[in-house]
Amino acid sequence: MSSSLPIAVFDSGVGGVSVLKQLINIMPNESYIYYGDSKNAPYGSRSHEDIRSLVLLCVKELVDMGIKALVVACNTATSVAIDEIRAIYPELCVIGVEPAIKPAAEYTENGNVLVMATPATLSEERFLNLVDKYCCDCEVELLPCHELAGLIEQGHIDDEIINSHLENILSPYKNKVDSVVLGCTHYPFVKNVISKHLGENVKIFDGAIGTANETRRRLEQCDLLCDENAFPDIKILTSGDNESFCSLVSTLFNV
Ligand code: DGL
Repeated sequence: MSSSLPIAVFDSGVGGVSVLKQLINIMPNESYIYYGDSKNAPYGSRSHEDIRSLVLLCVKELVDMGIKALVVACNTATSVAIDEIRAIYPELCVIGVEPAIKPAAEYTENGNVLVMATPATLSEERFLNLVDKYCCDCEVELLPCHELAGLIEQGHIDDEIINSHLENILSPYKNKVDSVVLGCTHYPFVKNVISKHLGENVKIFDGAIGTANETRRRLEQCDLLCDENAFPDIKILTSGDNESFCSLVSTLFNV
């Protein structure tokens, strides 16, 4: 395995860009292939089996391109398929993203934590185990967001549509929770709107920085960090419409 190979970053669509940004921040010399399966996004309301086969197909495509590591920058794909990906590619450094339940549970002062994620993530055993492990001393409200990733995928990040959608789904939690987990990599792009509808004193957690740090740690451990003088390259690929995907990705880079 050569350290000059790129790191692949995968999501159902544009959400993983929130992780890619943190990866580039802490490892600016690395090369990246970002792949969004936007033809099939959103994944979150699909069945376990459907998500599993879509993810495995995309991962195979990425591995065939020649990569040194795979970041599954999608909570839904991680919950459903990370163990299987690791079993199929035992030589590959595979990093997943997990809802930031632990810091949110540690932070809460009033004991009420809200977790926003896709219906698929919230129903997976991997997620339920995290809640069991870290939330013994607090109340956890689970909010399955059926439409949110799809709206962001369509480019609604700060308009009337996203505002009224978030106002609708978040109003039951206003002045109730003080700690919120964004359990989907799409949601950090609407963090300000979420904060507006829940109140400014609510603390919001996502897994992007943790995932980027873990990726660097794993690459270092395997002696796979690239040469400091490497000339980095970032490729943006999608199974969907290339032009609209790249245009949304570049907008999200500046959010
Ligand atoms: N960005 C994804 C996640 O972290 C997937 C959202 C979706 O495709 O529904 O869960």
